[in-house]
Amino acid sequence: MGFNIAVDGPAGAGKSTIAKLVAKKMNLIYVDTGAMYRAMALYFIKNDVDINNVEAVAKACIGADITLKYEEGVQMVYLNGENVTAFLRTEEVGNAASVTSGVPQVRARLLELQQTLAKNSDCIMDGRDIGTCILPNADVKIYLTASSEVRAKRRYDELVSKGEECDLAKIQEDIEERDFRDMNREVAPLKQAEDAVLVDSSYMSIDEVVERIVGIAESCK
Ligand code: DC
Repeated sequence: MGFNIAVDGPAGAGKSTIAKLVAKKMNLIYVDTGAMYRAMALYFIKNDVDINNVEAVAKACIGADITLKYEEGVQMVYLNGENVTAFLRTEEVGNAASVTSGVPQVRARLLELQQTLAKNSDCIMDGRDIGTCILPNADVKIYLTASSEVRAKRRYDELVSKGEECDLAKIQEDIEERDFRDMNREVAPLKQAEDAVLVDSSYMSIDEVVERIVGIAESCK
């Protein structure tokens, strides 16, 4: 078993930004499990699968083969042999991933891949159910959150900096809708593991959050 840090939390809490920086500082592999669910969602979109039809999603997911490769330390996601990394971070794909990740067959297809990665490498893995389901024995568990206002504003600033037009109120509404779905689904809902450390980043800088998590992780080594 590798040295494993599990980071869970709601959309937009900064999990991937923070996890990447912690990975660099501690020489760990960063495993972005949201990207795997996004790749699944992309597969459904590409193949015109009705994402609200649970049976259709359960049946179709068998055709999606997702693998990861690390190129200069950066995670690349392959869907049926094609590198789809560049197509995963849109709102459409994120929302579809939030819907389809509630289907047990979709989760089952990704569980083994995630557990094998953690077994074979020292890693920091982020998602929604890492500390609760995927790596219940992780060396360190963090629950990273922030208020929905702060998360929406961060997302808004990110989109504006890319020159995209967007509406702050709509972003916050989408985030709260996604939180509700992720926290209330039957299978592997987002929740803080009993032994996870809560980090609320609402009023912390990125550096402060990274320092906090590295400090916690170093004390567990
Ligand atoms: O972290 P993200 O926004 O890239 O995740 C996209 C969606 O995938 C999220 O709304 C819920 C789902 N997801 C999940 O159910 N379990 C995970 N371990 C990671 C993501």
